[in-house]
Amino acid sequence: MNATAAEKPWTVPMLAEAKREGRRLVMLTAYDAGFARVLDENGTDLVLVGDSLGMVVQGHASTLPVTVDDIAYHTACVARGLKRALLIADLPFGADATPERALEASLRFLRAGAAMVKLEGAGFKLDIIRHLVEREIPVCAHLGLTPQSVLRLGGFKVQGREAAAAAKLRQDARLVAEAGASLLVLECVPSALAAEITAASAIPTIGIGAGPGCDGQVLVLHDLLGANTGHRRPKFVKDFLAEGSSIAGAVRAFAAAVRDGRFPDAAHSYE
Ligand code: KIV
Repeated sequence: MNATAAEKPWTVPMLAEAKREGRRLVMLTAYDAGFARVLDENGTDLVLVGDSLGMVVQGHASTLPVTVDDIAYHTACVARGLKRALLIADLPFGADATPERALEASLRFLRAGAAMVKLEGAGFKLDIIRHLVEREIPVCAHLGLTPQSVLRLGGFKVQGREAAAAAKLRQDARLVAEAGASLLVLECVPSALAAEITAASAIPTIGIGAGPGCDGQVLVLHDLLGANTGHRRPKFVKDFLAEGSSIAGAVRAFAAAVRDGRFPDAAHSYE
């Protein structure tokens, strides 16, 4: 059975339980209390204050300008709108450059109401994950297209298509789980690879442009609602407002489509 709005608030151990029981996780981003309330009341399990706010709220070309102050402010706003969903706050660019900085920022986000922090990448970030988890801060890892790597990558591109890149992604997925992450976002990864990583993963995976084989799905709220963000619309984005006919309806339509495996379909996934 899937979680419903009448059920108890999400906790971190419930994520592993959901994976074990094969219940798909529904995640959306939010940046304010009003939308957070709508998400919370309409079947969203996980709410992310993403550094995507730099692009969809602040109007920047990338997530790089977002600060710890920005995420702390929006996390506090979103927390006031939630009763049941688990709140995750993104460590913005540079905030996880050292264990000390990551710990300081994460403590601010937990004080603002988050139950977990998200960070991008593996490599030296494995030590950061261990540093936070050892200090009782739950961590969501993020692999595949990591938008904070946009300068190195030269754009927002699908990751893991070549054999060597796919092998590295498989290895990184295992390493972030071993370092103690409780959740793993896979962004812009070919569907077959994401499904393979999910099947091998000890922790739930949440896909965005990673096909239907993940343990859950996330979309940026503005994309779910078909808002013109001023950015190119990626293939994996679907406007759920068109079929939901209200904001609450769009959230319910997304949640239902994720839970019964209708979203994402091939038209919203990468090969
Ligand atoms: O910042 C964000 O909103 C994210 C999601 C797209 C996963 O990282």
